[in-house]
Amino acid sequence: MTQLDGLQMLPRPVRDSQSEMSQIVLPNDTNPLSALLGGRLMHWIDLAAAMACHRHSHSYALTASIDSLDFLAPSHVGDIVILRSSVNRVFHTSMEIGVKVWAENYVQDVCEHICSAYLTFVAVDAGGRHLSVPAVIPETDEQRRRFDEAGKRRDLRRARMEKRRRNS
Ligand SMILES: CC(C)(COP(=O)(O)OP(=O)(O)OC[C@H]1O[C@@H](n2cnc3c(N)ncnc32)[C@H](O)[C@@H]1OP(=O)(O)O)[C@@H](O)C(=O)NCCC(=O)NCCS
Repeated sequence: MTQLDGLQMLPRPVRDSQSEMSQIVLPNDTNPLSALLGGRLMHWIDLAAAMACHRHSHSYALTASIDSLDFLAPSHVGDIVILRSSVNRVFHTSMEIGVKVWAENYVQDVCEHICSAYLTFVAVDAGGRHLSVPAVIPETDEQRRRFDEAGKRRDLRRARMEKRRRNS
């Protein structure tokens, strides 16, 4: 593991890397019922998460895991899908990113929360070597809640990985 140098390792507030991405749902993004494909949404979630991750770490990164995903409501052709991502917590070389997704129907003037996801990324250099990531500073009550909960989710992930290692 190597480390980003000096100034680059200074802790950064969550707001510095919060990102937003929007997509219009087109026919090629949908199933025969004109509903957004789950796989397409997962791809957009990965990209939205990567944006916050790159902006925070100033490095390349690999997706290590995506926690269970619940599709809370469908989205349809013509909707605007809005994805907002932020760094919930940094560990050492890895960081948890939260992505919250809304579908906006601009004809009916409604915007619905359709999905949330937590992803873990590992920062790497161009040679694939893992990099230490600067700490993230939560500033709002919501960011502090997400920071605390990210620690609990990491414990669960590590327990799951350990169990898999023992069974393999
Ligand atoms: C993810 C990957 C980099 C982890 O590397 P590794 O050498 O097995 O991991 P290590 O045990 O050294 O752990 C490195 C960090 O990753 C975390 N990590 C590893 N596997 C993880 C997983 N499945 N979920 C969450 N975090 C994970 C560890 O907790 C550790 O975090 P920390 O440094 O913050 O404490 C490696 O498995 C990999 O390259 N996977 C393929 C990634 C990929 O192709 N993604 C899709 C395209 S980007």
